[in-house]
Amino acid sequence: MNMQKRTIVALPGDGIGRVVLDETIRVLDRAGFVASYVEGDIGWEFWKSEGNPLPDRTIQLLETHKIGLFGAITSKPKDAASRELDPGLKEKGLIYSSPIVGLRQHFNLDICIRPCRTYKGNPLNFIRRGADGAIEEPEIDVVIFRQNTEGLYGGVEWTNPPEIVYKGLASHPRFVKNFGNVPVEELSISTRIFTRSATGRILRAAFEHARKQGYKSVTVCEKPNVIRETSGMMYKMAQEIQASEYPGIELWNTNIDAQMMWLTKNPEIYGVIVAGNMFGDIVSDGFAGLIGGLGFACSANLGEDIAVFEPTHGSAPKYADYPESIINPIAMMESACMMLDHINEAETAGRIRSSIAKVVLEGKVRTYDMMKMTGRADVIQKGAASTRQMADAIIENL
Ligand code: NAI
Ligand code: MG
Repeated sequence: MNMQKRTIVALPGDGIGRVVLDETIRVLDRAGFVASYVEGDIGWEFWKSEGNPLPDRTIQLLETHKIGLFGAITSKPKDAASRELDPGLKEKGLIYSSPIVGLRQHFNLDICIRPCRTYKGNPLNFIRRGADGAIEEPEIDVVIFRQNTEGLYGGVEWTNPPEIVYKGLASHPRFVKNFGNVPVEELSISTRIFTRSATGRILRAAFEHARKQGYKSVTVCEKPNVIRETSGMMYKMAQEIQASEYPGIELWNTNIDAQMMWLTKNPEIYGVIVAGNMFGDIVSDGFAGLIGGLGFACSANLGEDIAVFEPTHGSAPKYADYPESIINPIAMMESACMMLDHINEAETAGRIRSSIAKVVLEGKVRTYDMMKMTGRADVIQKGAASTRQMADAIIENL
């Protein structure tokens, strides 16, 4: 084990983000991971009090220490955001934008990794019926690589586009044919921009992971037959990269719509899946649903030298103020394990994952989601474990 002391930027954020991060740091400590944590301000509180949910000092902390563990933040629609601003800030024309999206963009955290693995004994696992009528529980081990900064989430959008944009569009014969008669003020346009460099980075990250972790296939999950330019470029580049750099790994090609159907038919055949921003978001939620949903869905956002690890769930504000928290901390703990892998502490990550696996398999300690209960304060009286009890059980089994 690497005994050199590291500094991790802890970004609790809002709501249940703080709870899951505290419990996760407790598990990391007890697993013997030697680190100090500096807390970075992020989220709704800082929007209200400073008009900025991602203060510069937080950016600075990440620039210095490189590694962030992020809980969750609360976002609200534009009007609600303005209403909640500190009175002194109201007239300044500040506009709220999500600080986690801001972080991904500021540090160009363009590679998003979302593993979805079955824990044996998890009552939330996907089951299906075999040809003989018997119930089957396929073992899923899929890692989704999602391009994190471009595509439909790139933010280049217009309603009633300016003339220069309209003219550019009107130079495309398809635009003239399909939209040429539509008044400009009735047009809403969201662009889907892919660059060769970011596309190459996400593809290579996917292939490299497949090679290192022994997955036999990489599936490009896009829609190149219809979205010919962006999806088409990604698939073509994947073919080139596979042929020249990763001949030992099979390249599969699925369309996002068919993939969403196939993932309940035979999810166990897939290994690494790679996609653009939007389809990566969709396909990763699809697979997460098969392995336990939000309480189990973890992720990494990787840039060239900065990385932020986070559960995919949000701040679940309705559960934030329970005297005894009921939410499942496993997604956050799994995200911390991804952090450990990233900083060469894979042995510690392995021990935490085995401990989670033991607790899930034994089935004695289960949070409300694992008991298929509706989340309410009384679930603990009904036998569900609290967040803390789940963390304690994982610590006991380390
Ligand atoms: P959410 O993920 O916070 O919660 C949805 C529902 O999923 C919850 O009500 C709860 O029933 C369940 N859930 C979530 N995490 C769970 C856990 N760890 N254990 C057990 N059950 C869990 O999504 P929602 O309600 O759509 O959004 C709430 C707030 O979170 C919003 O302000 C939204 O903008 C923000 N959000 C932030 C994200 C982030 O920080 N990356 C991601 C998604 C939403
Ligand atoms: Mg999502």
